[in-house]
Amino acid sequence: MITVKSSAIAHSNIALIKYWGRSLDHNPNLNIPSNDSVSMTKYGLTQSTHLQTHTTIDFSDAYQEDSAILEEKVLARRKMERILKVVDPLRKYANIDCKFKMMSRNDFPTQAGLASSASGFAALAIAAANALGIDFTKEEISTFARLGSGSATRSIQGGFVRWKKGNSHETSFAEQICDPHKFNMNAVIAIVHEGKKDVTSDVGHESAHTSPFNEVRILKSQQQAKDIQKAILDDDFCKVGRIAEESSKYMHAVMMTSNPPLFYWHPSTLRLVRSIQEMRKRGMKCYFTVDAGPNVHCLCRPEDRYELQKMLGRIEYIKKIIPVKPADDSYVTKEHLF
Ligand code: DP6
Repeated sequence: MITVKSSAIAHSNIALIKYWGRSLDHNPNLNIPSNDSVSMTKYGLTQSTHLQTHTTIDFSDAYQEDSAILEEKVLARRKMERILKVVDPLRKYANIDCKFKMMSRNDFPTQAGLASSASGFAALAIAAANALGIDFTKEEISTFARLGSGSATRSIQGGFVRWKKGNSHETSFAEQICDPHKFNMNAVIAIVHEGKKDVTSDVGHESAHTSPFNEVRILKSQQQAKDIQKAILDDDFCKVGRIAEESSKYMHAVMMTSNPPLFYWHPSTLRLVRSIQEMRKRGMKCYFTVDAGPNVHCLCRPEDRYELQKMLGRIEYIKKIIPVKPADDSYVTKEHLF
């Protein structure tokens, strides 16, 4: 009987240069983006969450069918299809055709407005490749994580990561541009709304091209990716913050002007963005970035984090704050979930 089991832990990431919209020149299933993106892989600094996913996968010819359990619930067909997008090509590559059982747990609530697909698909790709005995580089594994979720491409590695858009499955991969200890940046995530987003990123990636501003955003993003990479390596926090804010605003401008339009911001998102601008005027070095949802990541230097946490903690409409620092690489663990 063949049975091969492996587990991995991966962290979520926050995009500083956003990925929004897939390249129209490729099969949409490959999730090849229109532009390069840059992110910080994040490690949650609270006792209850490190913003990580722990996944175990077991391939065995004892299983009659593929199955997956997320947070103690058996996954329905549609979610299972997404898992198969990552596992099937790896299974084919390894030339193994037995079925699998997968189990996955996040150390943060999946409905709390915190993206889980980046850490989830990164952990899945690492665990599956390792179980199947495939000796890939981190860059190669990132191409398989990408098939499940674009942002997962960047979660294979820690620190600061650039996903190069590339022009094929093999060339659209992520690489670390700076290790987690070399560029001093933290963030405080301000949850202003808990719950699932109304429109998934998947739908948004489809409609990005209908915005008249999308072409401009794509062009600008390539320059921003270059500029932010240099600013990270120069340890120029304010420049990183300014470019990250700009990228976030460009993405939301495209979202709002797409057909159908997408408004992810809540009134509290705008209130907080304005507060961050005010704090900055008063001398606090902090910048905002907002993903496909209403919650806000406030970027700061590590030495300013407590002060920022205190200030955000006093704002009544913020439901929860989670401080984060750059995480290390995702990794294989001997701790199995079953
Ligand atoms: C706004 O396709 O990675 O976070 O639907 O969660 O898999 P999921 O999203 P994904 O798109 C992420 C879009 C973004 C920006 C970014 O992370 O670059």
